Amino acid sequence: MKMTKEQKYRLLEQAKPGELEELTAQAESCEWRQSYHIQPHVGLLNDPNGFAFYSGKYHLFYQWFPLGTDHGMKYWYHVTSSDLASWTDAGIGLAPGGPYDSHGAYSGSGIEKDGKLHLMYTGNVRDGNWVRHPYQCLAITDGNGMATKLEQPVIANVPPGYTEHFRDPKVWRDGEGYRCVIGAQRDDLTGTAVMYRSKDLLDWTFEGELHTSLSSFGYMWECPDYFELGDRGVLLFCPQGIRPDGERFRNIYQSGYMLGKPLESNGRNFEHGEFVELDRGFDFYAPQTTEGPDGQRILVGWMGLPDLEYPTDDKGWAHCLTLPRELSLRNGKLIQRPAAGLISLRDKEIEFSAELNKESRSFAGVEGTAYELRVAISPSASDSEHGTFGIQFRTGENERTVLSYDVSSGRATLDRSQSGASLSPDYGTTRSCKLSDQHGSRTVEFRLFVDTSSVEVFVNDGEETFTARLFPDSASTGISFFANGGTAAFEGSYWSLREGSIPRGLPTDILEHGKVKP
Ligand code: FRU
Repeated sequence: MKMTKEQKYRLLEQAKPGELEELTAQAESCEWRQSYHIQPHVGLLNDPNGFAFYSGKYHLFYQWFPLGTDHGMKYWYHVTSSDLASWTDAGIGLAPGGPYDSHGAYSGSGIEKDGKLHLMYTGNVRDGNWVRHPYQCLAITDGNGMATKLEQPVIANVPPGYTEHFRDPKVWRDGEGYRCVIGAQRDDLTGTAVMYRSKDLLDWTFEGELHTSLSSFGYMWECPDYFELGDRGVLLFCPQGIRPDGERFRNIYQSGYMLGKPLESNGRNFEHGEFVELDRGFDFYAPQTTEGPDGQRILVGWMGLPDLEYPTDDKGWAHCLTLPRELSLRNGKLIQRPAAGLISLRDKEIEFSAELNKESRSFAGVEGTAYELRVAISPSASDSEHGTFGIQFRTGENERTVLSYDVSSGRATLDRSQSGASLSPDYGTTRSCKLSDQHGSRTVEFRLFVDTSSVEVFVNDGEETFTARLFPDSASTGISFFANGGTAAFEGSYWSLREGSIPRGLPTDILEHGKVKP
């Protein structure tokens, strides 16, 4: 049921007696709760925020609307981890409701300065006429409890030439100072990103637009991120308003990257290649990266999209984050691999292998609802021109999700047309992409992370990823491997995955009378 705006823009302390308890009980009894992904205790989760390695561990926040599954009053919820696999609940990190974030503490980023974690975010304000006013705000924390907000925003105005769609600052250190990139909409209603510079994170100077060759590419760019990887500058952003183009851009909004020459310290000209989608699946948006202690670049995304309905919406909660992915470059492409620490979730390994010829096969013990599965599929030389090979998983009565590789077209396809409760069928039920043939052999490797209501597929060691929510019956636990129209050797490993101590239960200080302790 859709909420009114008065219902959506309530703070936790304005919840009706028992409201949060009721929603929480509903969420906790939902059959689609994830077992090792970060998900909200209750309500709606969206973008990852404030991701930073600080004081010996990773701090990660997410956009959180506690009182429903619409997009409403956004908080930042905080979790921490030392291995990117097991997470500790750190409660509310940032609460809205001040004069500059009266209608939500929107997305932003985190950076360490003077031994403290500084969170720069967009304060969302709606005036009496429901006109939006964005403020870029700063809050400071030692990593425990709620961050302390500065009384005044650090960027109080939208510069001339841009609309009120101006948000999601991503900060990085640049020499002695800092720079940030902010998602924006020009007055002519095209999307872009702008840059600011600061010596101290407090006083920011508007530098101007980040110049790219995309002068008209969607109506808004959300959640930009800029970083350097090897000898490349990388710009991530989420353009809205891009039309589908063959297999590309099939989702309601897009999330992708451009590789280019690193920005000069005072420069805003980004010489770059084409915009490439980060993920080929159905449910991926608003990713954010940070640098780990060993210089590694880690990305986390929202496993969902705005403005769509999901099957848990009437069950008290919605969405989760993706697994953390480590980024690298290979053959001019951004490569995403599951964070190394995730192997700590593995239970004992089951190895399997078989040659399949126009048949399908299952293996004892290889089934479930929360597992990692790696399989290498090598079509036989005589079948180098034809055949479709792959995996059916979460199979049950009338349900299956199908991941396949078609030799003649060189394409990988994820099909969720029979995955269970349907979601966004208007945006199609399959996603495909062509794999590069640069990996030198015809063997295709799929590495899947399946959880109660999702799958993340890493193809050929991170060359492509497919991320999707799935809402099958809990009894649909089967896995089978198939060779259609040809012969292929299958070789792989299966591990069921432990829960990863994802925090359970809303902290009592939040539940108690809906009151949030400062
Ligand atoms: C992206 C986004 C951001 C905004 C936030 C609000 O999903 O719309 O642009 O800051 O979500 O929750």
